Amino acid sequence: MKILVLNGPNINMLGIREPGIYGHDTYDSLVEMVRAHAGEIGVDVEFYQSNHEGDLVDAIQKAYFDGVEGIVFNPAAYTHTSVAILDAVKGTGIPTVEVHISAVEKREDFRQVSYIRLAAVKTITGHGLAGYNEAVDYLVEHFGSKNED
Ligand code: DQA
Repeated sequence: MKILVLNGPNINMLGIREPGIYGHDTYDSLVEMVRAHAGEIGVDVEFYQSNHEGDLVDAIQKAYFDGVEGIVFNPAAYTHTSVAILDAVKGTGIPTVEVHISAVEKREDFRQVSYIRLAAVKTITGHGLAGYNEAVDYLVEHFGSKNED
């Protein structure tokens, strides 16, 4: 199975940004953790991070043409604002798990809105970086080619 791990704005600042909320691990260590897990379970995983909304839309469209079968997606702040990103996921139909490192449901009111959730097959919040591996497992279990009959 081919999975794209897609991250939105400021996720490249993990380890620096608000460690009390997002922890001390860096973006590079997130990539290594997911890559190792994917390797163990035989999943082909790609990574992309951007601080720009249109770049994320482009990455979702590219994923479609590249035959990506699942997206693990933390749209970060664009979660709460972006119809364009919602439409990209809806438009490609790629099964997408929404991941948030923090427990967004326990935070500010403006974080209670999630556009991407309208297209997501599952949402994982508040599990820290482990949520990314859980999202990979969910996609493999529910959308992996071994389960297609
Ligand atoms: C986040 C939560 C968002 O509200 C925030 O804008 C982020 C990160 C998370 O992973 O907890 O940048 O998506």
